[in-house]
Amino acid sequence: MEHRNPLPPHLLIFPLPLQGPVNNMFKLAELLCLAGVNVTFLLTDHIHRRLSIYANIHSRFRRYPGFQIATIADGLPADHPRDGNQFIEIFDSLKSPESKAVFRDLLCGYDGGIRGPVTCVIADGILGFALDVANDVGIPVVSTRTVSPACLWIFFCLPKLIQSQEIPFPGNDLDELIKNVPGTETFLRRRDLPGFCRAGDISDPNVRLYETEGQINSRARGLILNTFEELDGSILSQIRTVCPNLYPIGPLHAHLKTKLLAGETPATASPAASSSLWQEDRSCIAWLDKQPLRSVIYVSFGSIATLTKDQLMEFWYGLVNSGQKFLWVIRPDSVAGKDWESQAPAELTQGTKERGYIVGWAPQEEVLAHSAVGGFLTHNGWNSTLESVYEGVPMICWPYFLDQQVNSRFVEAVYRLGLDMKDTCDRVTIERIVRELMEVRKDEFLQEAKKMGELAKRSILEGGSSYTSFERLVSDIKTWSPRS
Ligand code: UDX
Repeated sequence: MEHRNPLPPHLLIFPLPLQGPVNNMFKLAELLCLAGVNVTFLLTDHIHRRLSIYANIHSRFRRYPGFQIATIADGLPADHPRDGNQFIEIFDSLKSPESKAVFRDLLCGYDGGIRGPVTCVIADGILGFALDVANDVGIPVVSTRTVSPACLWIFFCLPKLIQSQEIPFPGNDLDELIKNVPGTETFLRRRDLPGFCRAGDISDPNVRLYETEGQINSRARGLILNTFEELDGSILSQIRTVCPNLYPIGPLHAHLKTKLLAGETPATASPAASSSLWQEDRSCIAWLDKQPLRSVIYVSFGSIATLTKDQLMEFWYGLVNSGQKFLWVIRPDSVAGKDWESQAPAELTQGTKERGYIVGWAPQEEVLAHSAVGGFLTHNGWNSTLESVYEGVPMICWPYFLDQQVNSRFVEAVYRLGLDMKDTCDRVTIERIVRELMEVRKDEFLQEAKKMGELAKRSILEGGSSYTSFERLVSDIKTWSPRS
């Protein structure tokens, strides 16, 4: 029989050991701490070392006595680069019998501390071994994924896509519609599937990794997703056919910010710390302050995507030739070759001086919230997409990899909040599409984006869909106990 525990629940949160998922899970951890739940946050030694150097995690969580960090070795040699491209190696090493044993000890070895024994696990839904160990020892487990729900649904459908021989693609027509992703038959094309589906090889390690997603996630009691019902309702109802108990609690960044601000006096208010990996250049806010309402297109391709020098030049010409004002983030490590700036033709530097501003890293959430910004040329990382949706900013989509290929299609064909220019990168197209978003169809896109932004804001306020899902998550966690 289910019953309420006298002690606050003690959650163990185990994110994927990569920057993006770890950042997102810290936001979830903080929301749960605010709800009075004790949290042990499990990091690999490597990520923990990096966070201790570059981020303020320890000071940020000092105010929550129920929060602690635990670490686990990832089993890789010290000189392994461990970046996103080597993810499969990190993942394979992490599911070794040694790591499983350490994880099991963490779940079962109560040390008599103030948090009490672990009562529930939240683990990334791709870490199947963590879900298995938790299930083995009888601790309830909820999974979570930080990619977009639309992409997750495609992962769930991978076995069917392979079985029906829709992938690898027969022939070269990337505009052919996909038939075996229920709910998307009228708009999802081959080119909109995650990039690895184009590899033409079903033994590709990515396919191997993601094709078990549906099975793994269905072994959990629920699945937490960073979205809100009003945005992704149609895909959520598809995912519910595999994982009936969903907790859509996004947009997570805004959900946390709103709860933090609600709980603070103005004097002590301190919204969630920035987890930027680069130094933010705040001079762009002063530049934006001088620009007319909704006149600027903000351009950023996130924290991983890189551009060739040719691509950079095409974007630069396209932006300058569009005649629009632009604020562009060019990350220090994002362009192949260091000499792009000194080699820029005079018409580009002149056009930029007149109408543009370039920074190495921007305070993105603040930029998107600025009234001078009227559009976002984005790679459609899921965080950037949700940040844009929340602030009511229409998008031009130039996806780089993985869920971004799917997200860009959803922005254009489902959310109707922008234009997808995937698989093109020439100055004429860029100029045309920027003009279309910022001039020709400006009012139409701004209106739609504003409506969705308002729904997003409502979803995280009391009574809203994400607010209610989060309350239900906390209540369920309080009700569940080991072996219940
Ligand atoms: C990765 C994956 O590539 C993406 O597909 C997945 O959905 C999430 O992780 P990433 O490049 O990190 O993408 O993009 P995104 O998810 O959009 O995250 C970038 C974050 O950096 C955003 O929160 C954004 O606000 C922030 N950012 C970006 C800044 O703060 N300043 C900048 O100048 C640029």
